[in-house]
Amino acid sequence: MEKKNIDWSSLGFGYVQTDMRYVSNYKNGAWDDGCLTDQANVTMSECACVLQYAQTCFEGMKAYTTQDGHIVCFRPDLNAQRMADSCRRLKMPVFPEDRFVKAVVETVRANAAWVPPYGSGASLYLRPFMFGSDAIIGVKPATEFQFRVFATPVGPYFKGGIKPLKLRICDYDRAAPRGTGHVKAGLNYAMSLYAIVDAHEQGYDENVYLDSGSRTFIEETGGANIVFVKGNTLVTPKSDTILPSITRRSLVQVAKDYLGMEVEEREVALSEIGDFTECGLCGTAAVISPVGTIVDHGKEINYAGFGPTIQKLYDTLTGIQMGRIPAPEGWIEVIE
Ligand code: PLP
Ligand code: COI
Repeated sequence: MEKKNIDWSSLGFGYVQTDMRYVSNYKNGAWDDGCLTDQANVTMSECACVLQYAQTCFEGMKAYTTQDGHIVCFRPDLNAQRMADSCRRLKMPVFPEDRFVKAVVETVRANAAWVPPYGSGASLYLRPFMFGSDAIIGVKPATEFQFRVFATPVGPYFKGGIKPLKLRICDYDRAAPRGTGHVKAGLNYAMSLYAIVDAHEQGYDENVYLDSGSRTFIEETGGANIVFVKGNTLVTPKSDTILPSITRRSLVQVAKDYLGMEVEEREVALSEIGDFTECGLCGTAAVISPVGTIVDHGKEINYAGFGPTIQKLYDTLTGIQMGRIPAPEGWIEVIE
């Protein structure tokens, strides 16, 4: 199979239309058989529930070319589970978890020419998503839904590639107590758009959100969880209103089992972030992005950027993903 003629190493995090995507429709209480299609556009009622009441959720995952030339993806079963949780919270029908993984695998296979080569620094980003598609005008869930998976080749998430980020403590909130912060609802991201544009205008790469109940604890950023380092300990916020990042859960295991670190998953107070030496953002898109500075209303807290621990976590996680380091059982789905 011949790869597409793309300058892989100069890719940013943008949408490139690839050849095929997976589509399945839900109607009369059941999902259809689903299929691959070359149709990238969606046509629906002007009154579709997703357009009026934002009934939509999504996932983000990546396919990689490994050192020995296989195409793999990372822990897709956990994305399937999280999407099922999102669907239940948003009153959407679950797309069966085994079918979710098969749909992702089929989409990657059909777009194998778009999977960036090993060593290019790029990967094939996969975006499974679901939306309420029939006309709904009173506030209630849709009765018809579409599940799709598309693929797009991507490079680093943050502008300027992998460099220490400058974050700010954000005055806006992302998720309410007992709201939807713990699932991957499109509405959480709509909530963050005003704040991210404002952050960029003020020269910051991302917003650090606080818990909206007390505004005293660190939650996460708009598109990634956050980890801190102190000595041999990895510290990461525990909260019911943050997204349970698959990358963060994997890093916790990597820190314990591969690097012999202590791990604390607990509430992290804003008042203690000056005690840490290193900080990173973690997620599928962010991988582990080193943080250089967090600005808290004029007070600057500086971190080591690619300090020794963030570097080791990055090398080990990406080593596992690219097949350079043996993976824990069940982490790698070999596609080709
Ligand atoms: N937090 C938010 C708000 C996100 O959008 C993401 C991205 O998916 C993450 C965290 C990281 O999650 P994961 O590691 O599963 O990609
Ligand atoms: C991901 O990391 O997959 C996400 O969905 C985050 C998003 C901000 C791109």
